[in-house]
Amino acid sequence: MIPFVDLKAQYHSIKGEIDSAIQNILESSQFILGKEVTAFEEDFAVYCQTRYAIGVNSGTSALHLALLAAGIGPGDEVITVSMTFVATVAAIIYSGAKPVFVDVDPLSYCMDTGKIEAAITKQTKAIMPVHLYGQMADMNPILEIAKRHNLLVIEDAAQAHGAEYKGRRAGSLGDLGCYSFYPGKNLGAYGEGGAVVTSNPEYTRTIRMLRDWGAEKKYEHVLKGYNYRMEGMQGAILRVKLRHLEDWTEARRAHAAEYNRLLAGSGVITPTEMPNARHVYHVYAIRATNRDTLQQSLQKADIQSGIHYPNPIHLLPAYSDLGYKPGDFPITEKIANEELSLPIFAELREEQEVTVANTLKKCVDAIVKETK
Ligand SMILES: Cc1ncc(COP(=O)(O)O)c(C=O)c1O
Repeated sequence: MIPFVDLKAQYHSIKGEIDSAIQNILESSQFILGKEVTAFEEDFAVYCQTRYAIGVNSGTSALHLALLAAGIGPGDEVITVSMTFVATVAAIIYSGAKPVFVDVDPLSYCMDTGKIEAAITKQTKAIMPVHLYGQMADMNPILEIAKRHNLLVIEDAAQAHGAEYKGRRAGSLGDLGCYSFYPGKNLGAYGEGGAVVTSNPEYTRTIRMLRDWGAEKKYEHVLKGYNYRMEGMQGAILRVKLRHLEDWTEARRAHAAEYNRLLAGSGVITPTEMPNARHVYHVYAIRATNRDTLQQSLQKADIQSGIHYPNPIHLLPAYSDLGYKPGDFPITEKIANEELSLPIFAELREEQEVTVANTLKKCVDAIVKETK
């Protein structure tokens, strides 16, 4: 079987370092926040080219607190995309604000920057681009529009650890950036985790309080806060893993280049790395009109794949109250119908990759013959 991701293979490649980091936490008993979380925050801020990183208990919490620190709440609107994981939209709603969607670009699958201005109203307070699949949205136009209309930019970088736009890391271009360390992410915890990155000391102070019951000091609650703290164990594990992230990212990029080569001329659409972008291939997303049949054929050949995501948020029953309907975002809906994610992780072996590509090509040919 070829798995979609192989977290066990990754663990075994760094077992000694991880085991001793966990042992240290057990010995120190710093189970919540503590020295290892602070050290990880410092390392991660350097990695993200920001002044600060604040560790929290999930990417969703990171988004929620970034919005609150930015002063966004009821009556406000936040422009984002429907082509994302549900958490982006849920966090905007947690803050009390209203998500307003724009369609995505047909090549990058990220926010179509040409659509933003038409979505701005008097209530708009922020733009939240999503760096989907590991590639950053086209940030220059987003930052220019935000400046012109006095809006904040909060980057959803949950899938984009190490991704770059003109040499700048995800999360460092906007006012705030939000990361997830869900286990399957390019930098994944052994449980839940997330972080907000920013270079703004005021936001940092507020987020540090909000994640820990709004307290400035123990029992001195300045704000109405949350229990969103990062666990010591996760901080220690992430700190070890961060040291390997660049090697893993380069391995992912090499796998993506190899898939592109193997799948050239196969009839499926391979990902486009945009000019000025460093794509980190959290997801290697292909597109095919007969995606579901293709996925079933891969499954029969013992090859796991994923779909990110089959249902755009604007068409989900949970968000029907936002008032959108089929056809509102044609590119988003097309991608939702055609996208298929192939196995990609640093430890993927060359022969596995060749098997995936060859099986896929055979399946495509078989489908073409059947439909003739
Ligand atoms: C784009 C995006 N935003 C937000 C999240 C939420 O992160 P978490 O699962 O850590 O809460 C995720 C991942 O799960 C994501 O992919």
